[in-house]
Amino acid sequence: MIPAGNVKAILSTVGLITPEMRRMVEEQRLGFAATICEDGTANLSPKGTVTILDDGHLMFADLCSPQTVKNLRANPSIEINVVDPVIRKGFRFKGRGIVVDPGERFDELLERFTSGSRAVRDAKARIRHIVVMEVERALPLVSPAYDEGVTEGEVSARWEQYFQELWEGRRRS
Ligand SMILES: Cc1cc2nc3c(=O)[nH]c(=O)nc-3n(C[C@H](O)[C@H](O)[C@H](O)COP(=O)(O)O)c2cc1C
Repeated sequence: MIPAGNVKAILSTVGLITPEMRRMVEEQRLGFAATICEDGTANLSPKGTVTILDDGHLMFADLCSPQTVKNLRANPSIEINVVDPVIRKGFRFKGRGIVVDPGERFDELLERFTSGSRAVRDAKARIRHIVVMEVERALPLVSPAYDEGVTEGEVSARWEQYFQELWEGRRRS
C-alpha cells in the first residue's frame, strides 16, 4: 500500500505517453504545433520531425520555425496534435515547450535526427534549435465520423479509398 502523501509525487513521475500514442506519433511523422504570439493571437504550423523523446516528452527540430521558437521563448504554452488521416483518430498533447539552443544538451538530442528512422538530411547544418515539449495532458482525438457507430475498419476503408483515388487522379494528370 502506497502512503497517500506519496501518491501525487509518484503520479507526477509516471509518463503520460502511452505505447499507442508513441506508435501513432512515430507512424504519422507529422504534428501540428500551436503556440501563442505576443499579441495573443494563435500560431499553428506543421512539424514533420515531431518524435517521442521519452514517455513524458515530445520533441521536434527547428528547421524553419522562427515564430514558434519566438513564441515559446516568451510563453512556453504549446499544444501538438497528431492525427492519422485514414483512421481519423489521433492524440492532442498539451504542455510546455522548451527551446534547446546549440550546446551539450542540443548535441545529445540532435543524435536522434542524424541517423536512423528520423534522420533529417544535413541535420547538423540545418537544425537551429530543438524544441522539447513536456507533456502535461494527453488526450485522444476521435472524428465525429465514429458518432454513427461505424467501426474503425469501415472508417479506414472509406478514407483509404479516398486517398487511393486522389493519388490515382494525380498520377494520371
Ligand atoms: C509537412 C510539413 C512538415 C514540416 N516540418 C517542419 C519541421 O519539422 N520543423 C520545422 O522547423 N519546420 C517544418 N515545416 C515548415 C514550417 O511548418 C514552416 O516553415 C512554418 O511556416 C513555420 O512557422 P512558424 O515559424 O510559425 O513555426 C514543415 C512544413 C510542412 C508543410
